[in-house]
Amino acid sequence: MRVPLIAGNWKMHKTVGEAVDFINQLKPEVADVKNAEILICPTFTALYAVGQAIKDSKIEMGAQDVFWNTKGAYTGEISPLMLTDVGCTYVIIGHSETRGRFGVVEEGMTPALQAYFGGTDESVNKKLHAAIAAGLKPIVCVGETLAERNAGKADEIIQSQVKNGLAGITQEQAASMVIAYEPVWAIGTGETCDTPEAERVCGMIRKTMATLFGESAAQSMRVQYGGSVKPANAKELLSQPNIDGALVGGAALKVPDFAAIVKSA
Ligand code: PGA
Repeated sequence: MRVPLIAGNWKMHKTVGEAVDFINQLKPEVADVKNAEILICPTFTALYAVGQAIKDSKIEMGAQDVFWNTKGAYTGEISPLMLTDVGCTYVIIGHSETRGRFGVVEEGMTPALQAYFGGTDESVNKKLHAAIAAGLKPIVCVGETLAERNAGKADEIIQSQVKNGLAGITQEQAASMVIAYEPVWAIGTGETCDTPEAERVCGMIRKTMATLFGESAAQSMRVQYGGSVKPANAKELLSQPNIDGALVGGAALKVPDFAAIVKSA
């Protein structure tokens, strides 16, 4: 049985005080939840304080990104060891809002092309290996843009993101992976991928994992859906056989909404 992972990605929201208030309000709300893993991914500046605030609870903490080296002259970057040091157990890698920071983005590329070529599955892969080496559990985000979907390329794009992003990991590491399917056009737009299509793509990701790492790893790893998940659509999405959790942005900023999504798992 795969335990659903409900993760809140706060993106660039909440000061330290707001983050700690949220955790203190969430704790009693989810104290009785047994059949879901609960994860909050605050901004870097709030990680230490949130790490302290979750200590007596079942809430776990992840970071929203990581760099691939452990230390050195990398202005503005955060290393995997710094994340485990403050209490992170998970890290999001390759979120569509971060893909593009390290790639070659050429002038004249459409935003969709920039997101893809600039996204570089290579940087995702380096971050993934660094995260695993530090003992962090990675959540690797994949997903197509609207232009790619309209061109009939969604499956091909996602399969190559999985294959290249996860290159070089062992079957055992694959078995404990989390992949978040986040169609770029559904992120923060209020537009959700309809449930049968989200289930189809998540199933396709699991099949791709089986081809790459074997059936047993594919059955243990978890596939989350992300993109405008809210209390109203969470139950339906989370009851699908191949959807093992949600990566929640906007609806993870308010305690009642996030708690409702956790409880619908
Ligand atoms: P959203 O964001 O729920 O606000 O669409 C999801 C995400 O980007 O992880």
